Amino acid sequence: MNLTIKDGEDIKELQESIIVLTEEEKAGVGFIISQLPPLDMQSIDDDLLLLIQLTGQQLPKRLVEALLRFRRKPNPYGVLLFRNLPTDSMLPPTPMDGRFSAAKNSFYSEYCLLLFMLYLGDPISYEDEKEGLLIQNICPVQGHENRQENTSSNFLNFHTEDGFHPYPPDYLTLIGLRPDHKKVAKTLTTSIRTALHHLPSTCISLLRQPLYRLRPSSSFKINKEGDYSVQMPILSGHFLEPDICIHFKSMEAETVDARWALDTLKNALIKNIVAFNILPGDMLIMDNRMVAHARMPFAPNFDGCDRWLQRLFTIVDFRRSSFSRGQRKHICSPLTVEYTKQVK
Ligand SMILES: [Fe+2]
Repeated sequence: MNLTIKDGEDIKELQESIIVLTEEEKAGVGFIISQLPPLDMQSIDDDLLLLIQLTGQQLPKRLVEALLRFRRKPNPYGVLLFRNLPTDSMLPPTPMDGRFSAAKNSFYSEYCLLLFMLYLGDPISYEDEKEGLLIQNICPVQGHENRQENTSSNFLNFHTEDGFHPYPPDYLTLIGLRPDHKKVAKTLTTSIRTALHHLPSTCISLLRQPLYRLRPSSSFKINKEGDYSVQMPILSGHFLEPDICIHFKSMEAETVDARWALDTLKNALIKNIVAFNILPGDMLIMDNRMVAHARMPFAPNFDGCDRWLQRLFTIVDFRRSSFSRGQRKHICSPLTVEYTKQVK
């Protein structure tokens, strides 16, 4: 693949969407977090989310305005970056298994995610991915180097998140806790809004038909035989500002013409890539309905000092997923159950 990559910092139209907190704003966010209770990462319930959401109304006005504007009318790149957020003063070793870290006993990164992201919908997670945790650790895991999922360290190819799921996230957020050793593991994004005008109408027309099959990610632990792939269009919604669902590795076209359209789209997407290095204190928000993301390769040492991000998904129409969740819960049922459910 011949990628054309620009740093987000170098794109003029993105400058208003890269928000570096002033020292006063940083102290303000830090003070808000210091008033909140310790988090039990394995049970973040609705009452706590309500408390966080109410507390989030005290966030500095400039930050809230950026979030609300992004929700209402995202920039064509579909990303919003906050920098200079308050960070945890002490971090335990990066979890070697990429799972929950019981050793992390301060919660600045988690509260930054929740305080900001509750402006962009309700948190959602999936029982068969990352133990159903609402806030998930993203770290390299030994033996997973070549996987096309969040525990890998070789090139992670472009995808929109969990497009095979009936309730994929609308927003996906990554916050930096610890960088990779050489600071080369950049997050790459590419938006359908910047690629669309490079596509002929014949291609767009094919991409809007259900001619594509998408397999679930290996990050979902599916312990059952069966084909859980889904047939779908790649583009949907508004003709000029469509939504996109794509996976460069796990999606296949069902006809020769559909494959041509998919290849044409991929070529347009990789000519308009924006790179972000998510360092400690940085939080990158992506609109998962218009942006595919990827990650550059890096070399982990598996020494407890490797790259560590945290991730949170939110969904705008939370009620639509209620059939899949317990009352007041935010975790969707396993994918195998989703695919066999019968509404009576
Ligand atoms: Fe992803």
